[in-house]
Amino acid sequence: MRLDFYLSHVTDLARKASKIAASKGRVTVNGEIIKKANYTVQETDVICLDDERLAWPSEGYYLLHKPAGYVCATEDAEHPIVVDLLPSHLGQSLKVVGRLDKDTTGLLLLTTDGQWLHRITSPKKACSKRYQMTLVDSIDDAALEQLEKGVLLNGESQLTLPAVAERISDKEIYLTIQEGKYHQVKRMLAAVGNKVVTLHRDQIGDLVLDSALAPGEFRALTEDEVGYF
Ligand code: URA
Repeated sequence: MRLDFYLSHVTDLARKASKIAASKGRVTVNGEIIKKANYTVQETDVICLDDERLAWPSEGYYLLHKPAGYVCATEDAEHPIVVDLLPSHLGQSLKVVGRLDKDTTGLLLLTTDGQWLHRITSPKKACSKRYQMTLVDSIDDAALEQLEKGVLLNGESQLTLPAVAERISDKEIYLTIQEGKYHQVKRMLAAVGNKVVTLHRDQIGDLVLDSALAPGEFRALTEDEVGYF
């Protein structure tokens, strides 16, 4: 794999900072200073940053700014799939952590680590997810209160768990939920007689979507961020 890509996966450096670190002579491969970001490294190489030996990546943890139009599936005959946004050697082994609808944008996590995925998606862990949305109709305080207390989704027999609903403007709110039922947010808004126009996830637990990432861009999570879950 390319040196800058490798560095961005095993250190806190983003891709651009990795290129700069190499160009400044901070990186050695098998004892030789390598300044070219496109130099190919492999698992058997001894790779050091500032004289400190780096490990070969084991599990992968990535944060993607999902653009609209991509589906969270491993295959789809009609639509592009989110793993196509990552380099192919990564994409094949990655699993999506909690799906977003095709038209939903924002924070999407991908990993090779099944236990970590489970810690985020298991209903027992009640991991919070924050969504920002625009609505067809204005929403009143009574509807926000109802969303917070719990609503009965079409086809379900139990109320949704307590949520946090915050108004941004007449037709725009944040909703933080602990569950991840199929089309949950859209169904919750339908339950209070409204309709979601745009939906964007900007936070999962303590992890906030990186504002430096444009739609379609991704980066590896830092060790600290992996440790949030
Ligand atoms: N709820 C929805 O309705 N859609 C999503 O994509 C995510 C949560």
